[in-house]
Amino acid sequence: MRKYLCGILVVFSALVVFACSSTTVTDGSSVETTTTIATTVAPDPTATPVPTATPTPSPTPLPTPTPTPVPEYVEPQFDEVWYDNWVDGKTVPFVDPRSVRAEIISNPYAIDALVNKYYALPEDFKPDDLVSAPHSYDQMLREEANEAWIALYDGCVENTGEGLLLVSGWRDWGTQQFLFDRSKNKNGLAFACQKNAWLGRSEHQLGLAMDITNSWDDNISDDFGSTKAGMWVDEHCYEYGFIRRYQAQWVTETGYGIEAWHYRYVGVELATYLYENDMSLEAYLGKVQIMPGDEE
Ligand code: DAL
Ligand code: ZN
Repeated sequence: MRKYLCGILVVFSALVVFACSSTTVTDGSSVETTTTIATTVAPDPTATPVPTATPTPSPTPLPTPTPTPVPEYVEPQFDEVWYDNWVDGKTVPFVDPRSVRAEIISNPYAIDALVNKYYALPEDFKPDDLVSAPHSYDQMLREEANEAWIALYDGCVENTGEGLLLVSGWRDWGTQQFLFDRSKNKNGLAFACQKNAWLGRSEHQLGLAMDITNSWDDNISDDFGSTKAGMWVDEHCYEYGFIRRYQAQWVTETGYGIEAWHYRYVGVELATYLYENDMSLEAYLGKVQIMPGDEE
């Protein structure tokens, strides 16, 4: 009997196993399924990882090119004309500024801005940082130049016991015209072309130039150069940022005769360089005057 019961149990178990491993599909036929064994697949070390797609960068916009300023000019009033003057023992020709095609500068606020017969200020230029200068009769200078003037004055008093007078600082256009005409009427056109700038072409109009003399003499003169104060200023001005602008050795470079009284502020660094290298501002900027016969 036990043998018989065991036989039934075996048959029953077989039936259960069969039922569990069969699936009835909709069409009524039975299909065998495979048993899936879950295994962890080790990564293939040699497999090159598929790179994550880099997003295509949007193209960088090209910088807008800065247009090179096209220079404007003050056209000459007549054909070029030169006048001879006797300077430092020789005859030197000086061009009439009105006969020169002058380039209008684009940097009138630059401390090293070049203004001469060939480089003019934009019409009616007036610096916006003019201040009243001490040791003068109502003269004005640009702020930075004024600070330097005060220091130069104090240095001169301290070292020589002599004071200075600022006779002429910033000039407006009308004043510059007046001075050229007065010089021409008094001393002739040749003289004016040596000593006086045409309107718009004087560095006094930059607010960075000064005509100075001794405190007891309000006439500008070459005699100032041989006074104690004049000699001290000539030798030490660069320490304060000034250059003596019109010297005998640069007459043909600058286009002006000797002036013991005219100082120009350019800042201590440049003034020191020019002083130590005995160089005119024109030579430093590569813009010396072209003399008659020098043209190629
Ligand atoms: N005397 C100088 C050149 C001027 O008039 O600016
Ligand atoms: Zn001057």
